[in-house]
Amino acid sequence: MTTLAETSTVDTTPRHGFDSLDEETRVQGLPVTGELPRWLQGSLIRTGPAKWDLGSRTMNHWFDGLAMLHRFSFADGEVSYASRFLETKAYRAVQETGDIAYSEFATDPCRSLYQRVTSMFSPNLTDNPNVNLGRLGERFIAMTETPIPVQFDPDTLASAGVAYDVPGELTTAHPHMDRATQGMLNYAAKLGPRSSYRFFLLRPDATKPEAIASKRVRRPAYMHSFGLTERWLVLAEFPYVVNPPSLALSGRPYIENYRWRPELGTRFHLFDRATGESIGPFETDPRFGFHFVNAYEDGDEVVADICTFPDAGIVQDLYMERLRAGKPVAAAALERFRIAPGSGDVTIERLIDESLELPRINYGRCNERPYRYTWGVGIDGGWLDKIVKADVIERTATTWREDGCYPGEPVFVAAPNADAEDEGVLLSIVLDARKGNSFLLVLDAASLDELARAEVPHHIPFGFHGQFAH
Ligand SMILES: [Fe+2]
Repeated sequence: MTTLAETSTVDTTPRHGFDSLDEETRVQGLPVTGELPRWLQGSLIRTGPAKWDLGSRTMNHWFDGLAMLHRFSFADGEVSYASRFLETKAYRAVQETGDIAYSEFATDPCRSLYQRVTSMFSPNLTDNPNVNLGRLGERFIAMTETPIPVQFDPDTLASAGVAYDVPGELTTAHPHMDRATQGMLNYAAKLGPRSSYRFFLLRPDATKPEAIASKRVRRPAYMHSFGLTERWLVLAEFPYVVNPPSLALSGRPYIENYRWRPELGTRFHLFDRATGESIGPFETDPRFGFHFVNAYEDGDEVVADICTFPDAGIVQDLYMERLRAGKPVAAAALERFRIAPGSGDVTIERLIDESLELPRINYGRCNERPYRYTWGVGIDGGWLDKIVKADVIERTATTWREDGCYPGEPVFVAAPNADAEDEGVLLSIVLDARKGNSFLLVLDAASLDELARAEVPHHIPFGFHGQFAH
């Protein structure tokens, strides 16, 4: 059988997804194929890197690009689209000088030795929130892993300053909702001669964090997300660790100070949400991961489902030079960690054969609790090229795939008054490499049947996460 790629000169690789996008767009009424559910009213807002090429040089890593917001608004069966760069100090510096002025994930500003020594004491942390966004009360907040969350206006997409204080030098862009207060629970790392892992709560209208828990650590691990059960905050320390003084002294970009130390294994810490007391570490085999899918209690045990890699090589896979050259990236496995605090045992079990990353669940209904379904993106051909629905009870998976198409994170939106956990739609921005542009794909979340697609006039660079706002 011949494929489209063999019979045509069209570039059907995912390469366009790593092209910088300079233009900001507003389109009222995108061309729609299929039919949108009438109940789908609101906006999908996403953030992601959009500009890596700065004229004088190119950023090193996918995670480094300047953040752009993308908003798809649904009303009465129609879709409109708007995009805008977040006007952060990092973005303004690039506009003014043509070069970066703040340290990104894997790219540092060009500095003289003198500047490097002085920057040890003021590390010029970026405020480039290209990873995720969330809603806290009436505020919309874009986030990365530096402690400078940026508030923005969901109508104009204009940035509106620093959203709240973070009690540390690093945080995650994956906070959890606290059901009791409707506030936000998040992690921070305090780095210095005495480093610690911390958890904090931010109430809906607050800008000052409340401390929940803290634990001393000598070599902090890279932390992209954490798990939440009704009783516990679940921290997975993968053995990708940093010696805090080296962050200040090495002169290397942030992530290049982390070392893969498999002999440490993966170590789980459980923090009691009510008392702040922690138990652990509970050790198991070395893994690396970015994303918890979900966590919950099963009797005395804690179950944590995580998208994992055998090692931290995935961080190297995502350098722009490799991605633009079409090199394959590692595929994530959906694994279940069962932690038994009584015995200290941790078991690992792979849940489905398909790969799965950028996971979403029916969050409002299932976070912290036993659940059945997760949706994510998987890999057949070296880059994320299919949407995967996993049934973690039956241990089965179904997929959506189209030749030359590369979907991003599928965001689940529950249907109003839904009975079933998977009753609703999935929204995913898909790069159509055959046409060189992107479209918003709307799938039935239960069957993965296509309901509709709305075409954008240009490509949208591959991004990370977003949220649906009703
Ligand atoms: Fe993430």
